Amino acid sequence: MCGIFAVSGETSDAGMRVLEGLKKLEYRGYDSWGIAVRAPEGHVPIEKEIGKISHVEQVFVDAHEAIGHSRWATHGGVTRENAHPHQVGRVTLVHNGIFENYKEVKEEGPDHAFLSETDTEVIAVMINHLLEEGKSSEEALRTAAEKIIGRFALLVMIEGISGILAARRGSPLIIGRGEEETFIASDIPAFLAHTNVVNYLDDDEMVHIDGAKVQFSSLQTGELIEKRNIEVPWKVEEAEKGDYPHFMIKEIFEQKETIARAINHEDALVEEAIELLQSCNGVYFVACGTAHKAAMAAEYFFAKFSHRKINVVPASEMPSFEQFINEKTAIVAVSQSGETADLLEILERGQKKGAKVLAMTNVESSTIARIADVHLPINAGPEKAVASTKATTAQMAILFLLACADGNRMNEGRQILRSVSGNINDLLNPRYEDLVRTVAQEIMNHSTLFIIGRGSLYPMALEAAIKIQEVSYIHAQGFPAGEIKHGPIALIEEGTACLVLGDDQETLSNATELKSRGAMIIGVSTTQADIFDHWLRVPDCGGAQSIATVVPIQILAYHLAVLRGLDPDMPRNLAKSVTVK
Ligand code: F6R
Repeated sequence: MCGIFAVSGETSDAGMRVLEGLKKLEYRGYDSWGIAVRAPEGHVPIEKEIGKISHVEQVFVDAHEAIGHSRWATHGGVTRENAHPHQVGRVTLVHNGIFENYKEVKEEGPDHAFLSETDTEVIAVMINHLLEEGKSSEEALRTAAEKIIGRFALLVMIEGISGILAARRGSPLIIGRGEEETFIASDIPAFLAHTNVVNYLDDDEMVHIDGAKVQFSSLQTGELIEKRNIEVPWKVEEAEKGDYPHFMIKEIFEQKETIARAINHEDALVEEAIELLQSCNGVYFVACGTAHKAAMAAEYFFAKFSHRKINVVPASEMPSFEQFINEKTAIVAVSQSGETADLLEILERGQKKGAKVLAMTNVESSTIARIADVHLPINAGPEKAVASTKATTAQMAILFLLACADGNRMNEGRQILRSVSGNINDLLNPRYEDLVRTVAQEIMNHSTLFIIGRGSLYPMALEAAIKIQEVSYIHAQGFPAGEIKHGPIALIEEGTACLVLGDDQETLSNATELKSRGAMIIGVSTTQADIFDHWLRVPDCGGAQSIATVVPIQILAYHLAVLRGLDPDMPRNLAKSVTVK
């Protein structure tokens, strides 16, 4: 959560560059924004406001260094005072993360008239105080970092010292190496238009950039560190909307290719992942939100293709089961961003107990990808809309392949997934989108929506509910089809909209039970049934049916949001990468 961006170099419009970079990071947080530049006279003016940065056209001109921040509020409400950067004496800084013990440090620290309620201002006070005591900028940052319990990515500008300092522990920071300038950002798309050559900052490391000069050092000892330049294969177009009105629909349509790309791994890497699983006694699949629903689908894939019962637990619920984690446990982490705090904590604690980590993420530079014993990239390309779509089906495709490989059926798995990919390619066309939009028009003014599914379509009912809730704000709820008669059916009234995933006999009987209480039935299935009031066709994908079923639901959620006048890319109260607990 929160996007941060810095530039230092042979440019005179650093403020505008930070503005453009932050716009590309806005999916990480969008309740307020702020930019600070080093003015030619040496002082550091700040512009900050509440609201979305996408509406801002112009900030300072004439500066060669600047830092900025796009906020998702944690400590302190959404006010101008709480927006970053925060400035204390010579120090101006932005922060992404959580400083857990900031209240204690604030009380022990020097007297200061705080202007905000944030944890970040306390860091600025600490660094400024240490500079006043005569410490160098690097020493001041190191000493302040020692006091912080929690996670941080910090960008710091100090009056009288040229360049920008950055440090990380637990929140992402990537350095972009331009010809005559250097960038620092929470995510690569922010500077991709300028360079695709990067260095990854690891935990407890800091960096000082000054134009093209870049110096890495340990945040603990100050010792200098050498880093390799890495070229990332992402293309600028992948991180732009192009001709699409929103990232969400662009990313839905990209599933024409991403499923095939997701499984395009060397057999050896998949085999390494399988060896890890098979060398352990207990396997826990841990994830959050939509990624957790993908992991739930994997429970069905493993049962069917390798006859293995896996445990699937939302990361935030995992503490109750940590007693079972030991050196013979495999933890499989599924995460688009690779930065989700609840998940990261479980992995770190699990690794301390000797557990092995197999991770699937979409961001190879992410913390989870970097701490994993084996990492399977999901290769979906940058996902910018807050609601996960192409990353979800890519996660499901890899999980499906893994289940097949675990049952010695890797080739069969690849074949099935190739046909899923072809089927989704055929499905994703403007005519189909129009059909889904028509169904969205039918239900756009409903306040409640129920979704049922059985077997591997049950997790998809839960996923459908998340997708619809988060972008359309309609109260949507998913159930196992057979459970509906054990309580939820009491909620059905004349005209209640129910999405029925699948067309097996038992699910259709459950749908009939709903229909006879007045429900409007929208079937999402391979075949049409008489009881459906509306029907969204899904191609027949055999054992991987759940992967294809999620696609029409994503399109439905998107159009519900648009028809209700909402921005599907930036739903209220949410952020793309949930780096707080
Ligand atoms: C919903 C959505 C979230 C994420 C969840 C985990 O569309 O995107 O529920 O799935 O926050 O995020 P990652 O996958 O980045 O760990």
